Amino acid sequence: MRTFVLTMALWALLCVPSTLFSQKTSIENIEPRVEALLAKMTLDEKIGQLNQVVGDISTGTAVSKDDMLSQVRAGKVGSVLSHTNFDNKIKIQQTAVKESRLGIPVIFGFDVIHGYKTIFPIPLAQAASWNPSIAERIERVAAAEAAADGQNWTFAPMVDVGRDPRWGRVMEGAGEDQYLGSRIAEARVRGFQGNDLSENFSIAACTKHFAGYGFGEGGRDYNTVDMSEQRLRDIVLPPFKAAADAGSATFMNAFNTLNGTPASMDKHLITDILRGEWAWKGMIVSDWNSFGETIVHGAATDDTDAAAKCLTAGSDMDMVGGVYVKGLKKALDEGRVTQKQVDEAVRRVLRLKFSLGLFDDPFRYLHPQRRKETLEKAEYRILARETAAESMVLLKNDGGLLPLSAASPFKKVAIIGPYANSIGNKDYMSFWTLGLGARQYDSTKVVTPAQALKPALEAMGFEVTVTEVCINVTCDEVAYSAALKAAQNADIVICCVGERGFDCGESRSVANLELPRGQETLLRIVSRGNKPTVMVVFNSRPLVFPWANENIPAILCAWQPGFEAGNALADVLTGRVNPSGKLPMTFPRATGQIPLYYNHFNTGRPQQTFGTLWTSGYLDLASTPAYAFGHGLSYTTFSYGDVKLNKSTLKMNEILEVSVDVSNTGKVAGEEVVQLYVRDLAADVARPVKELKGFEKIRLAAGESKTVTFRINPAVDLSYWNQDLKFKADPGKFNVFVGGSSDKVKEASFEIKI
Ligand code: NOJ
Repeated sequence: MRTFVLTMALWALLCVPSTLFSQKTSIENIEPRVEALLAKMTLDEKIGQLNQVVGDISTGTAVSKDDMLSQVRAGKVGSVLSHTNFDNKIKIQQTAVKESRLGIPVIFGFDVIHGYKTIFPIPLAQAASWNPSIAERIERVAAAEAAADGQNWTFAPMVDVGRDPRWGRVMEGAGEDQYLGSRIAEARVRGFQGNDLSENFSIAACTKHFAGYGFGEGGRDYNTVDMSEQRLRDIVLPPFKAAADAGSATFMNAFNTLNGTPASMDKHLITDILRGEWAWKGMIVSDWNSFGETIVHGAATDDTDAAAKCLTAGSDMDMVGGVYVKGLKKALDEGRVTQKQVDEAVRRVLRLKFSLGLFDDPFRYLHPQRRKETLEKAEYRILARETAAESMVLLKNDGGLLPLSAASPFKKVAIIGPYANSIGNKDYMSFWTLGLGARQYDSTKVVTPAQALKPALEAMGFEVTVTEVCINVTCDEVAYSAALKAAQNADIVICCVGERGFDCGESRSVANLELPRGQETLLRIVSRGNKPTVMVVFNSRPLVFPWANENIPAILCAWQPGFEAGNALADVLTGRVNPSGKLPMTFPRATGQIPLYYNHFNTGRPQQTFGTLWTSGYLDLASTPAYAFGHGLSYTTFSYGDVKLNKSTLKMNEILEVSVDVSNTGKVAGEEVVQLYVRDLAADVARPVKELKGFEKIRLAAGESKTVTFRINPAVDLSYWNQDLKFKADPGKFNVFVGGSSDKVKEASFEIKI
């Protein structure tokens, strides 16, 4: 087989040169080459370039498949998505460049969400590190592996702000805040694309889902989104703008309607804002049949109507639906779209292919030797371990129960629970690990907690037992009594609970955020052993565990950490790594509090004390969260000095410097995320009680102090979308807050005068 692949690739390389491919791509010569090619194309070939078909795995609703190679040969396919088989990708590319009339190479798109062959922590976890360089380094590796395996284009980053943990896709984003989300978005784009799209290990990014997808009613995937233009522009759009400014080559439409209009045919979003106000020049692909779904939404009558509406709104490529193939010609005949509009969309697709260097060497991503040398390098594992450990968030650590050390007063450790040593499909990962194959799961790739933690603890002198219970099914009495017995026989319990990996991602919304499948009962039963317990939760979203919050002394949010789950967990629990993650999303006390986010408005009747009537709260529960945005503990302690300002009154064009001294007051070195928030006390419209405007992660040795200084540029950092939909800052009074969590801050005030 290997010889076959090598021969095919060599043959392909030898056969490629033609006038089209002989010139080396540079930014300057792309335009004339695009025009020259466009001039040769028939209408069918143009529509073909706008058509994306599905490869060997499906990540959406069923589609009928034609024989792909004959479609490619006929010039009817511009792109293939979700294709894993390497040899077939070579065959498809050979057919495109050698057997289609114009020899235009196909572009292969793929969902590279948290790694390709080496699986890293989920994006939400990466955001919990509050260290954008982590996301960038992960995407560099993911891009290298994907590129070496023949993929040219990833459908990532997802930059949707997520305020509703019921939505299964919060795991793919950076959480609830647009500022943190923007920093992570640009880092991920840089990671995928590198400095030059035509480098061997760069792939094109696709920023998604444009826009509003994270705000589906009820947290239900694909559901209706309705919001003010202010919320859209203040909260939803900033990470998209950051990704566009970072050079994201492509964008993807969202499935949802936004204020009544399906996003794929939303001219205001695509043409006015993205291509107009932001002057972004890239290509937009639909989501999976989202052009076709405009008909189901009830906003288009048939394929012709849908094609006309989506193209004129500014959407370019049709993922899977075949709507352009079926309807665009008729739309053109009927004068619903112009030839110019079709040509413009085709230009954007061709430009992308030229920028990726596909015309210079259509097989540049399909070198078997490079593939062999690049996939799953040992050094990627090191990065996976470091990043997983840095993203874990210590929610609670009463009495300094953690870390476990040789000096701990315990001898016997019981590791218990469904995620102690799971080999369940995609566990410790997510549905989005398609590079491994859609359905397969290679349990030899993931290091489970038991595999790493047990030997690590044994090396420190502990006796360790592992009791796997409640695996994949609801807990039963047998499981409960085995767990209790294990707890009784130990001095300390580590209970590994959470979500199955396969429950994380698209189409995996939930109505209940409580620990699934009887795991809260498992914790209660384990506690009957009266042993100190550490709860480790593997999760893809904020979950609700009120009993554990009250009764379990130490809780670690490990997220879905990827291949190095067990090693990273061992690093954190044994103190080799001091936890430094902070929550990028609020953890509620109950599902009924959703949506619950830190940067809310004050309301006219804010509730100070639970139970006060005539204020904005609940009769049966406090309206505060279980764990606030930005929260996360360390094995050391940090103290914050007073917030110092370089001036308390300033003009709009002056810079405010906000400084604070941060000290490590504990016994070990640690990292702290110093967070800066601002509140505009009286504006043209209501403004949030706090808004993140900066953060810095610092490392402090025990006893060390550092001064952290943030700079606020009022015209940029304090502007918002006012009643007249103007983006501007107002003179007036502001509060500024600095701290290690949104709910633990020191405060100062300043005023902007005209
Ligand atoms: C639908 C998802 O919404 C999108 O994010 C993904 O990239 C495509 N399917 C392709 O798998």
